[in-house]
Amino acid sequence: MFVCLCKGITESDVREAGRAGLVMACQLRARFGLKEAGCCGRCSKNIQELVELAASEHRLPAPNAVRT
Ligand code: FES
Repeated sequence: MFVCLCKGITESDVREAGRAGLVMACQLRARFGLKEAGCCGRCSKNIQELVELAASEHRLPAPNAVRT
């Protein structure tokens, strides 16, 4: 699903950024160029939704993690 039509950013792009440790609004804006010319600004206004999406992925344990 697209979360940004101007840049063609998908939900999985944001999840991938979260897995890479990009979970702050400024990091996501920079990563996806959400302040560049040609952007409508809608994503920047709703950046918290992208932050929550990225952070939810960042907190996931590794698939083969062993719990003690
Ligand atoms: S929809 Fe993302 S900047 Fe316009």
